[in-house]
Amino acid sequence: MNIEIKLTEEPKLKPSDENNLGFGTIFTDHMFIMEYNGDRGWENARIEKFHDILVSPAANVFHYGQEIFEGMKAYKNNGEVFIFRPDMNAKRANNSLERLCMPKIKEEDFVEAVKKFVEVEKDWVPKSNGTTLYLRPFVIGLDPKLGVHPSSHYYFIIIASPSGAYYAKGMSPVSIWVEDEYVRAVRGGVGFTKTGGNYAASMAGQEKAEAHGCEQTLWLDGVERKYIEEVGSMNICFKIDGKVVTPMLNGSILPGVTRDSIITLCKDFGYEVEERRVSLEELIVAAENGKLEECFGTGTACVVSPVGKLINKDRTMVIGNGGIGPLSQKLYDTLTGIQYNMIEDKHGWRIKVC
Ligand code: COI
Repeated sequence: MNIEIKLTEEPKLKPSDENNLGFGTIFTDHMFIMEYNGDRGWENARIEKFHDILVSPAANVFHYGQEIFEGMKAYKNNGEVFIFRPDMNAKRANNSLERLCMPKIKEEDFVEAVKKFVEVEKDWVPKSNGTTLYLRPFVIGLDPKLGVHPSSHYYFIIIASPSGAYYAKGMSPVSIWVEDEYVRAVRGGVGFTKTGGNYAASMAGQEKAEAHGCEQTLWLDGVERKYIEEVGSMNICFKIDGKVVTPMLNGSILPGVTRDSIITLCKDFGYEVEERRVSLEELIVAAENGKLEECFGTGTACVVSPVGKLINKDRTMVIGNGGIGPLSQKLYDTLTGIQYNMIEDKHGWRIKVC
C-alpha cells in the first residue's frame, strides 16, 4: 500500500507532565486516513495533520451507526517503540466490518497503516512507566442517505492519544456493578464486534454503576440474565478454587486481544483455564465458600484490572481480600513486561516499529 506522508508545519507542544496524561483526551499531530469509494475500493492512504473531518449531517454513521473501531497501543522503552499483536486487531476489525456490511481492509494494509503512523508519531509515545500511545483505528459509513442501506463510501482513520492508566486510580482494585435490568448484547447481534452502538447501549448501565459507587458494569447474558458476559470496557476472568475461569466466546462477547493473551499466559504459568458459561449464582456460592480467589478485567486500555468487589442489588461479594490478587499482579507484570520489551516474548507478540 502506498501511504503519502504530509507532515504538519505546525507541530503541537507535547504534554510536559507524563504522569498526568489521563486517558484519551490529548491527540497527536497527525492522523492516518484512507477512503473507500465504491467499486474503486480503498484508496488515497495518507498521513496528514490531525484535523476535523467534513461529513454530511445525513451520513449513515450519524443515523444508523455504521461504525467499527479498534483499540491498540504503542509502547516505548529505551527509545525503541513497539506494538502488540496488530494482526489480531486487523482480523477482529475485519470480523466487525463484515458483520456491519462494511468493506474489509487487507490485514497487511491495516498493520502497515498502524506501523507507519506510529513511526511518524514516535516522539509522541510517552516513556514514563505505565504510559502508552493509545491508538484508535476506526471506520465510518459516509453516504448521505436516510434509507437504511450500507454505505458505498467510508473513511478508515487512525488517531492517537498519549495516555496514562484507563482508570483514574491506576492498577488498583475496582468495584463492579452487576447489571440485571439492562443488557449489552444478544447472540446473533453485534456483541462480538467492536462497534460504537455496543458502547452507546452500555452507557445507561454505566451511569447506574457509577451511581452505586462502582467504576464499571458487569453484563449478564441478554436472554436469561444469569450468565456472566463481560464488563463495560474489558473482558472478565475469575480464579475459582485454583482454576482460571472466563466466559466462553459465544457471539455476544468481545473477543479481546488481551483476553486471548491472558489465557495463553495462564496456561504458560501452569493453570487450568476453563472457557465456559459462568453463572452469577456460581460466583455467589464460590464467594460464600471463600473460593472466589481473584477476579480481574482484561483489555487493551485497562490491561489487567483487578476487581475488589462485585455488587449485585444489595449483595456485595468481596473478592479474595479485596486487594490485588497475586495472579492478577503476575499477569499484569508479565504482559506489560512483554509489551515494553522488558522480558522474553516467546509467543512472538511484540512487533518493533522503530
Ligand atoms: C480498549 O480497551 O482499547 C477499548 O477499546 C475499550 C474502550 C471502551 C476504552
